[in-house]
Amino acid sequence: MDDHAFGPGTSGAGDADLAALQAQLVVFARELGMLYHLERARSRELERALRSIHETYLATMKALAQVVEAKDETTRGHLDRTQAYGLALARRIDPALADRPELAYGFFLHDIGKVGIPERILCKPGPLSEEEWDVMKTHPEIGAQIVEPIRFLGGATVVIRHHHERFDGRGYPAGLRGEEIPLPARIFAVADAFDAMTSDRPYRPARPVERALQELIGGRGTQFDPAVVEEFVSLVEEEGERLAAAVRAGSSSDGWSVDPTPGDLLGVGPP
Ligand SMILES: [Fe+2]
Repeated sequence: MDDHAFGPGTSGAGDADLAALQAQLVVFARELGMLYHLERARSRELERALRSIHETYLATMKALAQVVEAKDETTRGHLDRTQAYGLALARRIDPALADRPELAYGFFLHDIGKVGIPERILCKPGPLSEEEWDVMKTHPEIGAQIVEPIRFLGGATVVIRHHHERFDGRGYPAGLRGEEIPLPARIFAVADAFDAMTSDRPYRPARPVERALQELIGGRGTQFDPAVVEEFVSLVEEEGERLAAAVRAGSSSDGWSVDPTPGDLLGVGPP
């Protein structure tokens, strides 16, 4: 075909425009690539900063819970043990629930509200008066208020607020009954009572495991959810030795996590 059919110089100008457009596209692609890399780097930086904030916050909360525990020498080690029992039990009842990191935090932080209870009441050696009990009974609500604003702790609040409810509705603070009590709190109540019974106290020695299980069975339908007690009895019968070893070790490689990794909350691995 004859180029001149389109008029003189038309083809040359078109080629020049095309070349310029191509050059612009190359520059544009390079800029896009640079922007993409910049964004990736910024997003990684943000992830790191967010993880660091979460870890710092959790470390603060954990320290606060340990301050409470340290004030009462009779319950030393109670937090780690109860968390281990509670997680093992939750894993049998509802594995998806047990995998949620905030459940472990709820178990560990359940008594964090005791930071708001005056020491003369919290550490009183003798029995509490009625008024003192009324003050003591505010600790679940105080704890829930401390943790509630922290969005990523989510489910931890239900354990903290409801860990003293009873299955028959005679517990506190809300007097919830049966399945009105959130399942994590029903699970926690059994783990908590078992640890209390099998630990030494100044006024009584630790009860043998068999006796503690009998007491849990006796409390079915009144203090505890009967289905949760049954599962706990099976847990101790079938996996008691493994659980005891994991508790002694403080953590375990077989999934009995006593100290969950704060980074888990973000669903991201280490940087
Ligand atoms: Fe409590």
